[in-house]
Amino acid sequence: MDIKALVSQMTLEEKAGLCSGDDFWHTKAVERLGIPRSMVSDGPHGLRKQDEAADHLGINDSIKAVCFPAACATAASFDPDMIREMGEAIGDSCQHEKLSVVLGPAVNIKRSPLCGRNFEYFSEDPYLAGRMAAAVIQGIQSRNVGTSIKHFALNNQEHRRMSSSSDADERTIREIYFPAFETAVKEAAPWTVMCSYNRVNGVYASENPWLLTEVLRNEWGFDGYVVSDWGAVSDRVAGVAAGLDLEMPSSGGVNDRKIVEAVKAGKLDEKLVDRACERILKIVYRYLENAKPETPWDKEAQHAQAADIAAECMVLLKNEGGILPLDRQDEIAFIGEFARKPRFQGGGSSHINCFRTTGALEAAEGLKVAWARGYDVAADDAPEEMIAEAVAAAKNAKAAVVFAGLPDSYESEGYDRSHMRMPDCQNRVIEAVAAANPNTVVVLHNGAPVEMPWIGKVKAVLEAYLGGQAVGEAAVRVLFGDANPCGKLPETFPLKLEDNPSYLYYGGEGNVTEYREGVFVGYRYYDKKKMDVLFPFGHGLSYTAFEFSGLKLSAEKIKDTDTLTVAATVKNTGSRAGKAVAQLYVGDAESTPIRPVRELKGFVKVELQPGESREVSFTLDKRAFAYWNTQIHDWHVETGAFTIEIGESSRDLPLCGTVQVESTVELPRRYTMDSIFMDVMADPKAKEILMPVIRRTMAIFGHDDREGTSEAAREAVTEDMSMAMMNYMPLRGVFSFGGGITPEEAGELLAKMNA
Ligand code: BGC
Repeated sequence: MDIKALVSQMTLEEKAGLCSGDDFWHTKAVERLGIPRSMVSDGPHGLRKQDEAADHLGINDSIKAVCFPAACATAASFDPDMIREMGEAIGDSCQHEKLSVVLGPAVNIKRSPLCGRNFEYFSEDPYLAGRMAAAVIQGIQSRNVGTSIKHFALNNQEHRRMSSSSDADERTIREIYFPAFETAVKEAAPWTVMCSYNRVNGVYASENPWLLTEVLRNEWGFDGYVVSDWGAVSDRVAGVAAGLDLEMPSSGGVNDRKIVEAVKAGKLDEKLVDRACERILKIVYRYLENAKPETPWDKEAQHAQAADIAAECMVLLKNEGGILPLDRQDEIAFIGEFARKPRFQGGGSSHINCFRTTGALEAAEGLKVAWARGYDVAADDAPEEMIAEAVAAAKNAKAAVVFAGLPDSYESEGYDRSHMRMPDCQNRVIEAVAAANPNTVVVLHNGAPVEMPWIGKVKAVLEAYLGGQAVGEAAVRVLFGDANPCGKLPETFPLKLEDNPSYLYYGGEGNVTEYREGVFVGYRYYDKKKMDVLFPFGHGLSYTAFEFSGLKLSAEKIKDTDTLTVAATVKNTGSRAGKAVAQLYVGDAESTPIRPVRELKGFVKVELQPGESREVSFTLDKRAFAYWNTQIHDWHVETGAFTIEIGESSRDLPLCGTVQVESTVELPRRYTMDSIFMDVMADPKAKEILMPVIRRTMAIFGHDDREGTSEAAREAVTEDMSMAMMNYMPLRGVFSFGGGITPEEAGELLAKMNA
């Protein structure tokens, strides 16, 4: 299809019309030219296709579909290949349902445990989120349907989500909040990007030229269309100019008319409207020309796939005395409403109308499992009879498994959590059961960290996250050892909410949220502060054990334009087959910029039989060592030593090596009379030019000869102090303290230093 030619035949009114939706889920048709409507649908972990009454909050029914594990869970798999396959399945369902674009993945960073929508997001770590996002996009788009990576950008809270401004500094945005989008755009080329509701540093994302054009298109090479989150448009005309192509769902024609008027009044270049239409139609036709509605949608097969994936996502947080796996022959008590009816997805626009769901109780049919309700999902306090019933069931069993977590009312799209606790009734039931049976296990269903006041009293904790419609089957497989847990935490579980770095500022004041913790999000903060945490980023146990050895670096010294290959050997030293995740972290050992101790820059998941070992390898390029430099507005590596650590979690890193990285980029330096001596002396070229003056000044500060001074004078001005005085003194100090040069000479020296 010659899109340009097609757009050239459209009237201004038709073009403005095409820039907004026909209804909740369709782009507009232009019948005169044979342009059809095209349908999009939520997303992200399955389809929420509304055939009849439509809304963006999950209120009205959608077609029966398959709910795969949500992103909070799939991130824990650390398995992009598996997530790519999940994407392929979702892509097939889209083809079957005639959907051109599925609205996801959602890749916003889990800045605080409180974000109501954390369950839809991958991680506190941008590298992990980026790898997962790219994989799911590649999977879906391999079926010739599009994705809409969302919500671009800095949409990390639900509180005042449509008005709040997320205010962060350039480096924080580049290092923490952009990379998941950047990696996905560069590696997986999503067909569309959804801008967020919020403002970024004061400007709505939907009319932000820096976000939507400069960064997204000019820097990262995005070539699809940008769609607004549903109702995210404030100034439509500014949006067209900034690079917002499609407004969804619509403005009832109001904004279309504004576009027409702005063009007629010479306030908006018609070419920009053409550009938006071309981008939209390119995607409409890319789908249409590859539509395959005959693609089968085998929901049963996808249910089985969802169960397999859910099992790979579960994170075994604690397993004292190897209580898990349970023995199939033993009498076990399952306790909790979630054992019967698990919480496996979150509320809001991602809510899927599942064709089937399996709870753990149902999945355990045939085993010697008794059940007690334990608590009421909708209530906060626990009636005594319910607790007594749970205790009785626990007492009669070899082991008790309490299925607990967060109810929908605690965690949902549209609002944030106000604390990090589970409902009181659930905590009480866990305590009571643990007191009645020493072999108590807790299975958690939640989209983000919770406090665990009972952690010392239970033997095991299995984090199931929101594991999709087959989570019950997966939980039973893991509990009874048919599957060996291999998920790793994609986020830190702090001991308490107040420990979280965003705690003081999260939610903001009025319509402004300042990201004052900067780049110190998640483990980047806890590690820098050497804080105890409940469970660290990357943590997850297995029923077998792994040993890491043989760290090999391809070089001791590289330039920032080279790549470094890192290899290590992982061995399964236990007696069961299992999967290890080798995690690689890089740290700048001697850094001038204030940087995290370590940052995840690679991971590999390997399956190993008992006794088997395998070499895993990683390739590190400039980005693995770089920070965002705000002077050159680019990634920069500071020359020096970097640590390379490998292990099983951010706090279990048995292998450590060092590489020297040399920068090939010289940062621009501009000296003035306000530059201080210390900075000049760190620059060999400038130091040489200034040496005569430095020598004379050093003499004044007593650096050259302390011998002849009296004891009293030596006590008054220690060597350290005189050194510091000199170091921190601006060059203009040479006039105050007799550097022996004239202003003209100083000017000449500066000119040479800056040459
Ligand atoms: C959500 C999006 C969603 C859209 C359409 C919005 O409220 O923020 O994630 O895709 O609705 O349902």
